[in-house]
Amino acid sequence: MHNADDYKRAADLILSRTRHRPKIGLVLGSGLGVLADEITDADAIAYEDIPGWPLSTVHGHAGRLVIGTLEGKTVLAQQGRAHYYEGYTPQQVTFPIRVMSVLGVQTVILTNAAGGVNVNYKTGDVMMLIDHLNLIGLTGINPLIGPNLDSFGPRFIGMAHPYDRVLRDAAQRAAAAAGIALHVGVYAGVSGPMFESPAEVRMLRALGADAVGMSTVQETVVARHCGMKVLAFSGITNVAIDQNDFDGEANHEEVLEAGKELVPRLRAIVRGVLNSLA
Ligand code: HPA
Repeated sequence: MHNADDYKRAADLILSRTRHRPKIGLVLGSGLGVLADEITDADAIAYEDIPGWPLSTVHGHAGRLVIGTLEGKTVLAQQGRAHYYEGYTPQQVTFPIRVMSVLGVQTVILTNAAGGVNVNYKTGDVMMLIDHLNLIGLTGINPLIGPNLDSFGPRFIGMAHPYDRVLRDAAQRAAAAAGIALHVGVYAGVSGPMFESPAEVRMLRALGADAVGMSTVQETVVARHCGMKVLAFSGITNVAIDQNDFDGEANHEEVLEAGKELVPRLRAIVRGVLNSLA
């Protein structure tokens, strides 16, 4: 278990390496790390250099923080994240979110690669999360389990407003202005690392999921516990297979490949949202 000093130590290292004081955090998922390339005046910090920071072992995750300016706002971007399936505890997976909170970050934009569960979704589409099914967390794999750290937030929190409405409205406007069709849907957070079986995909659809992925929900829970505003997007990197005799299999390579196609769309939406912030 991490304690308040662990988060502070990591924040102090970051503060010693940059003069920027970010108020906005960006978490860039599989194949989406290049979204940080347009950050100007940037200071980069390797995850290895930050005490307690979970290293990403997954191909497609660079493993560094990029801190600088994007659309006139000071942002801290995480190029790659750690996942529960890598063997990290939920507390380790969400360590970066609490460090951001200690740094004064008040808004976090999470991105992920996800499988399309909604039958209308195609590879390359972008979905904004309006809500999630925290399948991994509801029954016990939850970063808030354990002694509550009161300096971050209270023991019990509501989750009626996981994704901020004002930010979602800004994203809708940014997408419309850029001519990008933006789905709005429910993300099912699972542990992975296997992709879902066809029966599981049909189950997720019956439960109300539009997309499925192996990240994000734990970060949202911890960010909301800290009182941060959260906005999140899924890049649909594959259509989840829902039929048993379909020839084919979801795989990480197609996830990374589709990520490239998604980058310009997500970039336009994220830039538009940043631009709209006061
Ligand atoms: N399932 C779970 N996670 C994913 C998928 C998927 O189909 N695609 C990208 N991440």
